[in-house]
Amino acid sequence: MATGGETTTTIKTTAQETDALRGIERIGAHSHIRGLGLDDALDAKNVSQGMVGQEDARKACGVILSMIKSGTIAGRGVLLAGQPGTGKTALAMGIAKSLLDSDYGVNGEGAGGSRKASLRGQDKSSNNINAESNEETPFAMMAGSEIFSTEISKTEALRQAFRKAIGVRIREETEIIEGEVVEIEIDRPTAGNVAPKVGKLTLKTTDMETVYDLGTKMIESINKEKVTSGDVITIDKSTGRVQKLGRSFARSRDYDATGPTTKFVSCPEGELQKRQEIVHTVTLHEIDVINSHTQGFMALFSGDTGEIRDEVREQIDEKVAEWREEGKAEIIPGVLFIDEVHMLDVECFSFLNRALENDLSPVLVVATNRGITKIRGTNYRSPHGIPIDLLDRLLIIQTKPYTEKEMKLIVNIRCEEEDVNMSEDAKDLLTKIGSETSLRYAIQLISASSLVANKRKSAKVETDDVSKAYNLFIDVKRSTKFMMEYSSQYVYNEANETDMET
Ligand SMILES: Nc1ncnc2c1ncn2[C@@H]1O[C@H](COP(=O)(O)OP(=O)(O)OP(=O)(O)O)[C@@H](O)[C@H]1O
Ligand SMILES: [Mg+2]
Repeated sequence: MATGGETTTTIKTTAQETDALRGIERIGAHSHIRGLGLDDALDAKNVSQGMVGQEDARKACGVILSMIKSGTIAGRGVLLAGQPGTGKTALAMGIAKSLLDSDYGVNGEGAGGSRKASLRGQDKSSNNINAESNEETPFAMMAGSEIFSTEISKTEALRQAFRKAIGVRIREETEIIEGEVVEIEIDRPTAGNVAPKVGKLTLKTTDMETVYDLGTKMIESINKEKVTSGDVITIDKSTGRVQKLGRSFARSRDYDATGPTTKFVSCPEGELQKRQEIVHTVTLHEIDVINSHTQGFMALFSGDTGEIRDEVREQIDEKVAEWREEGKAEIIPGVLFIDEVHMLDVECFSFLNRALENDLSPVLVVATNRGITKIRGTNYRSPHGIPIDLLDRLLIIQTKPYTEKEMKLIVNIRCEEEDVNMSEDAKDLLTKIGSETSLRYAIQLISASSLVANKRKSAKVETDDVSKAYNLFIDVKRSTKFMMEYSSQYVYNEANETDMET
C-alpha cells in the first residue's frame, strides 16, 4: 500500500501507527497558552488566547508564524532572547498551538482534533493536495541539554530533531467501499464452539445494494466503531479499516437516541466501490524510523530510535525527491524549537549553521536567557553563548520583563487554568510577591496556597493562605540569604571564594 509500491525500494509511510504519539494534555506550565493571541493584522491584543502583554515579541512571532504557514520558507532561524520567566518558552508554545489549530483565528476556538483528522485522510475537503491546509505543519521541540542525554551522538540527535520538523504530505489512492449499512448479521458461536465468528454486512447506495461476507477481523473493526444499521461507513479495502461517516438522513426519525453530536449524512450515490485519494502527512523522521531495519516502527513509541544509518536517510531523501517530481508528495517545512539553546556546544552550533542551509530545513526557533557568556566547549565568550556566525543567521526577538499589571493578569489566567478560586486580595498579594521575587515563584504558589486553603476546608484562597504558602516555600532570594547567614554550617561552602550568579 506504500506509495512507492511499483519501484524496487519500498518506503513505508503508514501514518496510522504514529497517531498515538501526539500527546495528551495535562495542566502544565504552559497549558493556558492557546495561541499567540493576534488579530488579523497580526497586532497583539493585550489578553488573548492565554497570552498577556509582550506585544512586540508576540507580533514578531506572528510574522514568523505566517512565514511558516506560507510553507515556502525554509532554513530561517529565530532567536528568542530575554530574562528568565519572560515568556520565551510560552511564545514558542503559542506558535506551536497556532500551527496545530486549523484556524489561525483570534478566538482560540480552533479545533485541535482537525490535525488528526487530516492526518488520517478523513477530511475529505483536504483531498486536494494543493488545498490551503496547514494543520499538518510539524512542530518539533527539544531542549538543548537533550543532546547529551541520549545514547546517540550529539549531531545524530540534532539530525533527528531536524527531520522531525520536516513534514512530507503524501497522497495515495486507495479503493474504498462506501455505503449505508442496511443490516449487520453476526453469527454468535454457541458456547464451547471455537469456530471463528462470521457474519454478513449489507450495504447500499442510492443505486445498489450488496451483501458482503465478514471475517473475524472485520467483525472486530465493526464492533469497535460501534456500527449499527443506518450508519454510513467507509471500508478501506487494503487495510480493512472501518470508519463511520455519520448516520443516514433517512434514519434520522426512527432513531430517538441520537445525541447532539450525531452527524447526519446523506446516503452515498453511485457504486459502492470507489477510488479515494487520501492525503496524509508524516515527518521525515517517522519515515526514517519506520524504514530503519534495526529499529522498526515500534521505536517511535519508545523514543528509543538509536542511530539511523546514513544510507537509510539517503534512500529516503531520494525517494521523497522522486515523489515530489511525480507530484505524489510535497514537503512541508515545519518548526524546530530548541529551548535553552546555550546548552549546545560548538560542534552543535556549527552543525546548525550548515543544516540551516539545506533546502530540506525547517524554520529553527531557539531560546535562551543567557547574556554574554562562554560558548560551551570553548573559552570564547559571545552574546547568548552562541557563536557570532550563527547569531548572524538568526532574527532576534527580545522578550521584556512584565509589569505588575501584566503579572496580575497572568496570575489570573493561571488561577483559572488550575481551577483555583482566589480572592482579589490574595491575587494582589501574589502579584506583589511575583514582582519582588519572580513570576514563576508566584505561579507555583497558586496550587500551594490552594492546598493550604483546602486544609482549612475553604473553597476560596485568601491572603492568609498565600502568606502561609509564602512562608512554607521560600524563593531563591530568601534561600540565598539564608545560606549566606548560615554559610559555615553547610558542607562544601564556597560562598566566600567565588562570585555567585545571583
Ligand atoms: N505573556 C504571557 N502570557 C501568559 N503567560 C505567560 C506569559 N509569559 C510567560 N507566561 C507564563 O509564565 C511562566 C514562565 O514563562 P516561560 O517559562 O515562558 O519563561 P522563559 O522566558 O522561557 O524563562 P526561562 O528563560 O527561565 O526558560 C510560564 O508558566 C508561562 O506560561
Ligand atoms: Mg524557557
